[in-house]
Amino acid sequence: MLRVEKVSKHFAGAEKGTLMKAVDEVSLTIQQNEIFALIGESGSGKSTLAELIVGLQQPTSGLIQWSEELRALKKDMPASWIQLVFQNPDRSMNPYWRVKDIIIEPLCLSGYPKRKALVRAEELLEKVKLSNDFLERYPSECSGGQKQRIAMARALSMSPLLLVADEITSALDPSIEEEILALLLDLKRSEGMSILYITHRLETISGFADHVAVMKNGTIQEMGDVEAVLTAPTSEYTKALLRASTFQ
Ligand SMILES: Nc1ncnc2c1ncn2[C@@H]1O[C@H](COP(=O)(O)OP(=O)(O)O)[C@@H](O)[C@H]1O
Ligand SMILES: [Mg+2]
Repeated sequence: MLRVEKVSKHFAGAEKGTLMKAVDEVSLTIQQNEIFALIGESGSGKSTLAELIVGLQQPTSGLIQWSEELRALKKDMPASWIQLVFQNPDRSMNPYWRVKDIIIEPLCLSGYPKRKALVRAEELLEKVKLSNDFLERYPSECSGGQKQRIAMARALSMSPLLLVADEITSALDPSIEEEILALLLDLKRSEGMSILYITHRLETISGFADHVAVMKNGTIQEMGDVEAVLTAPTSEYTKALLRASTFQ
């Protein structure tokens, strides 16, 4: 569905004249209606790759392309095809806005009448399993997990083909993390979309993701079917990550 081909992103390094290869010749394909997990420790280049895919950053080299089938569907790739949810929901939410206004903002920006958008907001909250009374609340009246559900509802308002979730559970308790993973799995099934799920926690992806790529220093160390990679990893790095994680 979406192909990333030999994509690199270089920054000027901390020392003068050096180059920081945040993402270095990464190739991967995200298929329709799958959860693709991107795993790696902090600083491995996950967020940079996510921002390249979303279009928030331009690659130094390489290509990011929708499948021909999708390109034929629409000449101009609407930005709404990819939606991003961040680790820190406060970064993407205006604290002075009510939840309903946060959720309907992308709809209104794309020309949806407000009254219709508000009806849609109720449906979107239902999709992320929050009740209607959240509509009138402010972000400060919601827990971390609830805020991530609201961020997801807003992302879903644009009916994306791909939802990029960058460490969205990292600041949450493990029990809340499990609920969010279950919700994402639900949404994958009901919405038919794909999810790029970025995490540093290898132990969370079994039974959840379809494919996984393990990233280190801007490069992909190993990639494949999740259960295969978890049960029979081929790269030394993945093996070390597995030993360090609580996954048995
Ligand atoms: N705008 C930038 N300028 C310079 N270096 C950057 C920039 N963005 C990210 N980096 C560096 O690129 C590397 C990868 O960062 P990042 O993609 O945030 O990793 P991750 O999300 O896996 O923690 C890090 O070493 C980071 O310091
Ligand atoms: Mg990151």
